Amino acid sequence: MNMGMIPSHPTPFLMPLQPSHPLHGCFVTGTDTAVGKTQVSAALLHWCAQQGWRSAGFKPVAAGTTRIDGQSVNEDVQALRQAGSARLTDAEVGPLQFEAACAPQIAAVLEDRSIDPATILSAARHLARCADVVVVEGVGGFCVPLGPDWDTADLAVAIGLPVILVVGLRLGCISHALLTAEAIRARGLPLAGWIANTVDPDMAHREGNLASLRHEMTRRHQAPCLGVLPWLDAPKPAAVAAHLDATALHRVFDHTPLPSSCLLEST
Ligand SMILES: Nc1ncnc2c1ncn2[C@@H]1O[C@H](COP(=O)(O)OP(=O)(O)O)[C@@H](O)[C@H]1O
Ligand SMILES: [Mg+2]
Repeated sequence: MNMGMIPSHPTPFLMPLQPSHPLHGCFVTGTDTAVGKTQVSAALLHWCAQQGWRSAGFKPVAAGTTRIDGQSVNEDVQALRQAGSARLTDAEVGPLQFEAACAPQIAAVLEDRSIDPATILSAARHLARCADVVVVEGVGGFCVPLGPDWDTADLAVAIGLPVILVVGLRLGCISHALLTAEAIRARGLPLAGWIANTVDPDMAHREGNLASLRHEMTRRHQAPCLGVLPWLDAPKPAAVAAHLDATALHRVFDHTPLPSSCLLEST
């Protein structure tokens, strides 16, 4: 009997991506919204570009656009496009953008639209052809509903990339990090590592929290810390990337093809 229990491996709603070109990269999730997922994703894109790989950002669902010169733009999509080295349009990086800066399912309803998984997966397949490494930025935390019967965790499963967890260092983050790590692994996804981000420069007991995170993420999940980001006055991708652990990142992105094969592929 399993009455009332949440299955540890919920059936994913989406069909797996199955790209014609193999998809390399990572899926960046966070302990919450506004914890630094975009900053980290942009830094990873910059770091990958520095290795000589064509890097592409992907924001499958973006909520919150502003009008600039008559164009609707989303800040995350722009930041990811600019940080990557593959030449892409905003529409390629962010195939589904909604105006309202709120939960994506609500933003979609406000426009009488829905979040179409097929649109997302075909955009991901396209990016797999355009880039050697794709950094996918999730939406909010790990389990954000995208429709009545699927959420961002299902999306991560369908995309199938290793997950990097951004932990926003604030009171409560240890439990948020451990719960998110459990959810990632319950979906059968590899947790490639975690990155601590100083979102509150005045956080009390920051070092103690970090030590506890290191201990618990290793003990429970064997997940390495890929970097500890300080509060930065100008958190540009290069400045953020300087605080990432290059050796640990190489282990995550090891399987990315060498630049020479990329050149052959693109000619
Ligand atoms: N380490 C940092 N130093 C300074 N500002 C930061 C840092 N990390 C995040 N921020 C700022 O916090 C806000 C939220 O970060 P963002 O990357 O957009 O979060 P998310 O993508 O998780 O919603 C942004 O304005 C960003 O510039
Ligand atoms: Mg973001």
